[in-house]
Amino acid sequence: MFVHDCWYIAATSDEIGGQPLGRTVCGQEIVLFRQSDGALAALADICPHRLVPLSMGSVHGDAIRCRYHGIEFAADGQCLRLPGAQTGGGLKVDRVYPVTERYGFAWVWIGEAGRADAAALPDFHWLEDRSLAFTRGCYAIACDYRLVVDNLLDLTHEAYVHPETIGQDELFDAPLRAGREGREAYLEREMAGVEPSPYWAASLGKPGPVDRWQRCRFRLPSIVLIDSGVAVAGTGALEGDRSQGVTGQVINFITPETARSCRYYVVQARDFMLDIDAAGQKRLDGMLDFIVGQDIALLEAQQRVIDARPEAAFRSLRIDTASVHARRIIDDAMIAA
Ligand code: FES
Ligand SMILES: [Fe+2]
Repeated sequence: MFVHDCWYIAATSDEIGGQPLGRTVCGQEIVLFRQSDGALAALADICPHRLVPLSMGSVHGDAIRCRYHGIEFAADGQCLRLPGAQTGGGLKVDRVYPVTERYGFAWVWIGEAGRADAAALPDFHWLEDRSLAFTRGCYAIACDYRLVVDNLLDLTHEAYVHPETIGQDELFDAPLRAGREGREAYLEREMAGVEPSPYWAASLGKPGPVDRWQRCRFRLPSIVLIDSGVAVAGTGALEGDRSQGVTGQVINFITPETARSCRYYVVQARDFMLDIDAAGQKRLDGMLDFIVGQDIALLEAQQRVIDARPEAAFRSLRIDTASVHARRIIDDAMIAA
Protein backbone atom coordinates (compact mmCIF):
# COMPACT_ATOMS: atom_id res chain seq x y z
CA MET A 1 0.00 0.00 0.00
CA PHE A 2 3.05 2.28 -0.22
CA VAL A 3 5.01 3.58 -3.18
CA HIS A 4 8.46 1.99 -3.22
CA ASP A 5 11.69 3.03 -4.91
CA CYS A 6 11.48 6.54 -3.46
CA TRP A 7 13.30 8.62 -0.87
CA TYR A 8 11.30 9.20 2.29
CA ILE A 9 12.06 11.49 5.19
CA ALA A 10 12.80 9.27 8.18
CA ALA A 11 13.66 12.04 10.64
CA THR A 12 14.87 15.59 10.88
CA SER A 13 18.67 15.86 10.99
CA ASP A 14 18.65 17.13 14.56
CA GLU A 15 16.65 14.15 15.79
CA ILE A 16 19.65 11.92 15.18
CA GLY A 17 22.36 12.66 17.72
CA GLY A 18 24.46 10.28 19.78
CA GLN A 19 21.74 7.67 20.24
CA PRO A 20 20.15 5.33 17.70
CA LEU A 21 16.72 6.36 16.49
CA GLY A 22 14.05 3.80 15.56
CA ARG A 23 11.50 4.77 12.94
CA THR A 24 8.82 3.03 10.90
CA VAL A 25 8.77 4.02 7.24
CA CYS A 26 6.28 2.41 4.84
CA GLY A 27 5.75 -0.45 7.29
CA GLN A 28 9.48 -1.14 7.68
CA GLU A 29 11.24 -0.89 11.04
CA ILE A 30 14.47 1.04 10.57
CA VAL A 31 17.20 2.16 12.95
CA LEU A 32 19.21 5.27 12.11
CA PHE A 33 22.49 6.26 13.72
CA ARG A 34 25.47 8.52 13.15
CA GLN A 35 28.95 7.15 12.63
CA SER A 36 31.99 8.87 14.13
CA ASP A 37 32.38 11.17 11.09
CA GLY A 38 28.74 12.21 11.34
CA ALA A 39 27.60 10.19 8.33
CA LEU A 40 24.25 8.47 8.73
CA ALA A 41 23.61 4.75 8.66
CA ALA A 42 20.23 3.03 8.34
CA LEU A 43 19.65 -0.67 9.05
CA ALA A 44 16.71 -2.96 9.67
CA ASP A 45 15.85 -2.44 13.32
CA ILE A 46 16.33 -6.09 14.23
CA CYS A 47 19.35 -7.68 15.84
CA PRO A 48 20.03 -10.91 13.93
CA HIS A 49 21.00 -12.69 17.17
CA ARG A 50 17.71 -12.80 19.12
CA LEU A 51 15.61 -10.26 17.24
CA VAL A 52 15.72 -7.38 19.71
CA PRO A 53 15.31 -3.87 18.21
CA LEU A 54 18.75 -2.38 17.62
CA SER A 55 17.26 1.05 18.32
CA MET A 56 17.30 0.08 22.03
CA GLY A 57 21.08 -0.10 21.84
CA SER A 58 23.85 2.48 21.71
CA VAL A 59 26.39 3.90 19.29
CA HIS A 60 30.14 3.26 19.70
CA GLY A 61 32.41 4.79 17.10
CA ASP A 62 31.14 3.59 13.75
CA ALA A 63 29.07 0.76 15.19
CA ILE A 64 25.70 0.20 16.78
CA ARG A 65 25.74 -2.07 19.82
CA CYS A 66 22.76 -4.25 20.63
CA ARG A 67 21.37 -3.64 24.10
CA TYR A 68 20.85 -7.34 24.84
CA HIS A 69 24.21 -9.09 24.41
CA GLY A 70 26.40 -6.28 23.13
CA ILE A 71 27.03 -7.50 19.60
CA GLU A 72 28.16 -4.60 17.42
CA PHE A 73 27.26 -3.99 13.79
CA ALA A 74 28.72 -1.63 11.23
CA ALA A 75 26.84 0.65 8.83
CA ASP A 76 26.94 -2.12 6.22
CA GLY A 77 25.17 -4.48 8.63
CA GLN A 78 28.23 -6.70 9.20
CA CYS A 79 29.05 -7.90 12.69
CA LEU A 80 32.09 -5.97 13.93
CA ARG A 81 32.49 -7.44 17.40
CA LEU A 82 31.19 -10.36 19.44
CA PRO A 83 31.64 -9.83 23.17
CA GLY A 84 33.92 -12.16 25.14
CA ALA A 85 34.83 -15.48 23.67
CA GLN A 86 31.65 -15.96 21.69
CA THR A 87 31.88 -17.52 18.31
CA GLY A 88 29.33 -17.84 15.59
CA GLY A 89 30.40 -15.39 12.95
CA GLY A 90 28.36 -14.61 9.92
CA LEU A 91 25.85 -12.57 11.86
CA LYS A 92 24.62 -9.73 9.70
CA VAL A 93 21.72 -7.31 9.89
CA ASP A 94 19.50 -8.48 7.08
CA ARG A 95 18.82 -5.15 5.43
CA VAL A 96 20.83 -1.99 4.82
CA TYR A 97 18.97 1.08 3.64
CA PRO A 98 20.50 3.73 1.41
CA VAL A 99 20.41 6.91 3.48
CA THR A 100 21.32 10.52 2.80
CA GLU A 101 20.99 13.86 4.49
CA ARG A 102 19.76 17.02 2.82
CA TYR A 103 17.58 20.07 3.55
CA GLY A 104 17.78 19.32 7.27
CA PHE A 105 16.25 15.86 6.85
CA ALA A 106 17.48 12.27 6.93
CA TRP A 107 16.17 10.44 3.86
CA VAL A 108 15.95 6.67 3.43
CA TRP A 109 15.38 4.84 0.18
CA ILE A 110 12.49 2.40 0.47
CA GLY A 111 12.45 -0.29 -2.17
CA GLU A 112 15.19 -1.94 -4.15
CA ALA A 113 18.49 -0.65 -2.72
CA GLY A 114 20.26 -1.04 -6.07
CA ARG A 115 17.88 1.46 -7.62
CA ALA A 116 18.63 4.20 -5.06
CA ASP A 117 19.42 7.32 -7.00
CA ALA A 118 20.63 10.52 -5.35
CA ALA A 119 19.21 12.48 -8.29
CA ALA A 120 15.73 11.25 -7.38
CA LEU A 121 15.79 13.19 -4.11
CA PRO A 122 12.94 15.75 -4.17
CA ASP A 123 13.87 19.30 -5.08
CA PHE A 124 13.30 21.46 -2.00
CA HIS A 125 15.71 24.20 -3.08
CA TRP A 126 13.82 26.87 -1.13
CA LEU A 127 15.23 25.32 2.04
CA GLU A 128 18.75 26.23 0.92
CA ASP A 129 17.87 29.81 -0.02
CA ARG A 130 19.58 32.07 2.49
CA SER A 131 17.37 35.02 1.56
CA LEU A 132 14.34 33.26 3.06
CA ALA A 133 13.25 32.55 6.65
CA PHE A 134 11.71 29.30 7.85
CA THR A 135 9.06 27.92 10.14
CA ARG A 136 9.35 24.18 10.63
CA GLY A 137 7.08 21.55 12.11
CA CYS A 138 7.08 17.77 12.49
CA TYR A 139 4.00 15.89 13.64
CA ALA A 140 3.00 12.28 14.25
CA ILE A 141 -0.56 11.71 13.04
CA ALA A 142 -2.69 8.61 13.59
CA CYS A 143 -4.14 8.44 10.09
CA ASP A 144 -3.55 7.14 6.57
CA TYR A 145 -0.96 9.44 4.97
CA ARG A 146 -3.29 9.98 2.03
CA LEU A 147 -5.74 11.83 4.26
CA VAL A 148 -3.02 14.41 4.92
CA VAL A 149 -2.38 14.70 1.17
CA ASP A 150 -6.13 15.22 0.61
CA ASN A 151 -6.16 17.91 3.27
CA LEU A 152 -3.27 19.84 1.72
CA LEU A 153 -4.71 19.65 -1.78
CA ASP A 154 -8.06 21.03 -0.65
CA LEU A 155 -7.39 24.34 1.05
CA THR A 156 -11.03 25.41 1.04
CA HIS A 157 -11.05 23.76 4.47
CA GLU A 158 -9.08 26.74 5.76
CA ALA A 159 -12.31 28.77 5.77
CA TYR A 160 -13.88 26.44 8.34
CA VAL A 161 -10.94 24.85 10.14
CA HIS A 162 -8.57 27.81 10.38
CA PRO A 163 -10.73 30.98 10.48
CA GLU A 164 -8.52 32.62 13.15
CA THR A 165 -5.42 32.59 10.92
CA ILE A 166 -5.38 31.64 7.25
CA GLY A 167 -9.06 31.00 6.50
CA GLN A 168 -11.50 33.27 4.73
CA ASP A 169 -14.88 32.71 3.09
CA GLU A 170 -13.70 33.74 -0.39
CA LEU A 171 -11.77 30.46 -0.60
CA PHE A 172 -15.03 28.77 -1.54
CA ASP A 173 -16.06 31.36 -4.12
CA ALA A 174 -12.78 31.70 -6.02
CA PRO A 175 -12.55 29.94 -9.36
CA LEU A 176 -10.04 27.11 -9.32
CA ARG A 177 -7.93 25.33 -11.87
CA ALA A 178 -7.14 21.73 -11.11
CA GLY A 179 -5.86 18.76 -13.04
CA ARG A 180 -3.13 16.23 -13.65
CA GLU A 181 0.11 16.61 -15.55
CA GLY A 182 1.82 13.24 -15.87
CA ARG A 183 2.73 12.12 -12.36
CA GLU A 184 1.78 15.44 -10.76
CA ALA A 185 -1.57 16.88 -9.70
CA TYR A 186 -2.26 20.57 -9.17
CA LEU A 187 -4.87 22.93 -7.87
CA GLU A 188 -4.63 26.70 -8.18
CA ARG A 189 -6.89 29.37 -6.78
CA GLU A 190 -6.77 33.14 -7.03
CA MET A 191 -8.78 35.70 -5.06
CA ALA A 192 -8.60 39.24 -6.40
CA GLY A 193 -9.42 42.28 -4.26
CA VAL A 194 -10.40 40.49 -1.04
CA GLU A 195 -9.89 41.39 2.60
CA PRO A 196 -6.92 39.33 3.83
CA SER A 197 -7.29 36.65 6.50
CA PRO A 198 -5.74 37.59 9.89
CA TYR A 199 -2.44 35.79 9.26
CA TRP A 200 -1.97 37.28 5.81
CA ALA A 201 -2.97 40.79 6.95
CA ALA A 202 -0.25 40.66 9.61
CA SER A 203 2.29 39.18 7.18
CA LEU A 204 1.74 41.87 4.54
CA GLY A 205 1.65 44.67 7.11
CA LYS A 206 -0.25 47.04 4.83
CA PRO A 207 -3.94 47.96 5.11
CA GLY A 208 -6.53 47.39 2.41
CA PRO A 209 -7.67 44.66 0.10
CA VAL A 210 -5.28 42.09 -1.38
CA ASP A 211 -4.92 39.69 -4.23
CA ARG A 212 -4.35 36.22 -2.75
CA TRP A 213 -3.08 33.08 -4.46
CA GLN A 214 -2.67 29.39 -3.62
CA ARG A 215 -0.94 27.02 -6.00
CA CYS A 216 -0.78 23.44 -4.73
CA ARG A 217 1.18 20.73 -6.48
CA PHE A 218 1.36 17.04 -5.61
CA ARG A 219 4.41 14.94 -6.40
CA LEU A 220 5.22 11.34 -5.62
CA PRO A 221 5.49 9.75 -3.23
CA SER A 222 3.66 12.13 -0.88
CA ILE A 223 4.82 15.68 -1.41
CA VAL A 224 2.59 18.74 -1.58
CA LEU A 225 4.23 22.04 -2.52
CA ILE A 226 2.11 25.11 -1.85
CA ASP A 227 3.01 28.51 -3.27
CA SER A 228 0.85 30.94 -1.31
CA GLY A 229 0.76 34.63 -0.61
CA VAL A 230 -0.93 37.99 -0.87
CA ALA A 231 -0.11 41.35 -2.43
CA VAL A 232 -1.68 44.79 -2.41
CA ALA A 233 -4.73 44.44 -4.64
CA GLY A 234 -4.26 45.37 -8.27
CA THR A 235 -0.45 45.53 -8.23
CA GLY A 236 -0.03 42.66 -10.66
CA ALA A 237 0.79 39.77 -8.33
CA LEU A 238 -1.63 37.41 -10.04
CA GLU A 239 0.11 38.22 -13.32
CA GLY A 240 3.56 37.55 -11.85
CA ASP A 241 4.73 40.84 -10.26
CA ARG A 242 4.92 40.08 -6.54
CA SER A 243 6.96 43.17 -5.64
CA GLN A 244 4.07 44.51 -3.54
CA GLY A 245 3.40 41.21 -1.85
CA VAL A 246 4.65 38.45 0.42
CA THR A 247 5.12 34.80 -0.48
CA GLY A 248 5.32 31.63 1.57
CA GLN A 249 6.46 28.43 -0.08
CA VAL A 250 5.12 25.58 2.02
CA ILE A 251 6.96 22.31 1.58
CA ASN A 252 4.99 19.34 2.89
CA PHE A 253 6.27 15.77 3.06
CA ILE A 254 4.20 12.99 4.57
CA THR A 255 6.01 9.78 5.47
CA PRO A 256 3.71 6.78 5.85
CA GLU A 257 4.48 4.65 8.90
CA THR A 258 1.67 2.10 8.84
CA ALA A 259 -1.71 1.96 7.11
CA ARG A 260 -3.02 4.21 9.88
CA SER A 261 -0.13 6.39 10.97
CA CYS A 262 2.27 8.83 9.39
CA ARG A 263 4.73 11.58 10.13
CA TYR A 264 4.10 14.96 8.63
CA TYR A 265 7.07 17.28 7.97
CA VAL A 266 6.31 20.86 6.99
CA VAL A 267 8.45 23.91 6.37
CA GLN A 268 7.19 27.32 5.35
CA ALA A 269 9.93 29.25 3.54
CA ARG A 270 8.93 32.91 3.59
CA ASP A 271 10.23 36.11 2.05
CA PHE A 272 8.74 38.32 4.80
CA MET A 273 9.28 38.82 8.54
CA LEU A 274 12.93 38.13 7.84
CA ASP A 275 14.41 39.97 10.79
CA ILE A 276 12.15 38.83 13.60
CA ASP A 277 13.81 37.87 16.88
CA ALA A 278 13.69 34.49 18.59
CA ALA A 279 10.47 35.37 20.43
CA GLY A 280 8.82 36.34 17.14
CA GLN A 281 9.91 33.12 15.49
CA LYS A 282 8.62 31.20 18.50
CA ARG A 283 5.21 32.81 17.97
CA LEU A 284 5.24 31.70 14.32
CA ASP A 285 6.25 28.17 15.34
CA GLY A 286 3.43 28.15 17.88
CA MET A 287 0.94 29.29 15.26
CA LEU A 288 2.03 26.49 12.92
CA ASP A 289 1.50 23.99 15.76
CA PHE A 290 -1.92 25.52 16.40
CA ILE A 291 -2.98 25.33 12.73
CA VAL A 292 -1.69 21.80 12.20
CA GLY A 293 -3.23 20.76 15.52
CA GLN A 294 -6.62 21.78 14.15
CA ASP A 295 -6.03 19.57 11.11
CA ILE A 296 -4.75 16.64 13.18
CA ALA A 297 -7.90 16.63 15.35
CA LEU A 298 -10.00 16.32 12.20
CA LEU A 299 -7.80 13.81 10.39
CA GLU A 300 -7.57 11.43 13.35
CA ALA A 301 -11.34 11.62 13.85
CA GLN A 302 -11.82 10.99 10.12
CA GLN A 303 -9.58 7.90 10.35
CA ARG A 304 -11.61 6.58 13.29
CA VAL A 305 -14.80 6.87 11.26
CA ILE A 306 -13.18 5.20 8.24
CA ASP A 307 -12.07 2.30 10.47
CA ALA A 308 -15.49 1.97 12.06
CA ARG A 309 -17.33 2.14 8.71
CA PRO A 310 -15.16 0.33 6.15
CA GLU A 311 -18.10 0.01 3.77
CA ALA A 312 -18.60 3.78 3.52
CA ALA A 313 -17.07 5.52 0.50
CA PHE A 314 -15.87 9.06 -0.15
CA ARG A 315 -18.00 11.29 -2.35
CA SER A 316 -16.02 13.88 -4.25
CA LEU A 317 -16.81 17.48 -5.12
CA ARG A 318 -15.00 19.88 -7.39
CA ILE A 319 -12.82 21.01 -4.47
CA ASP A 320 -11.49 17.44 -4.30
CA THR A 321 -10.28 17.34 -7.91
CA ALA A 322 -6.57 17.45 -7.07
CA SER A 323 -6.92 14.90 -4.25
CA VAL A 324 -8.68 12.48 -6.59
CA HIS A 325 -5.87 12.89 -9.13
CA ALA A 326 -3.19 12.45 -6.45
CA ARG A 327 -4.73 9.20 -5.23
CA ARG A 328 -4.81 7.90 -8.81
CA ILE A 329 -1.17 8.87 -9.30
CA ILE A 330 -0.29 6.97 -6.10
CA ASP A 331 -2.32 3.94 -7.26
CA ASP A 332 -0.66 4.02 -10.69
CA ALA A 333 2.80 4.16 -9.10
CA MET A 334 2.00 1.14 -6.91
CA ILE A 335 0.71 -0.85 -9.90
CA ALA A 336 3.79 0.04 -11.94
CA ALA A 337 6.13 -1.13 -9.15
S1 FES B 1 19.82 -10.00 20.79
FE1 FES B 1 21.22 -8.59 20.03
S2 FES B 1 23.10 -9.24 20.78
FE2 FES B 1 21.71 -10.75 21.45
FE1 LIG C 1 -5.42 22.79 7.40
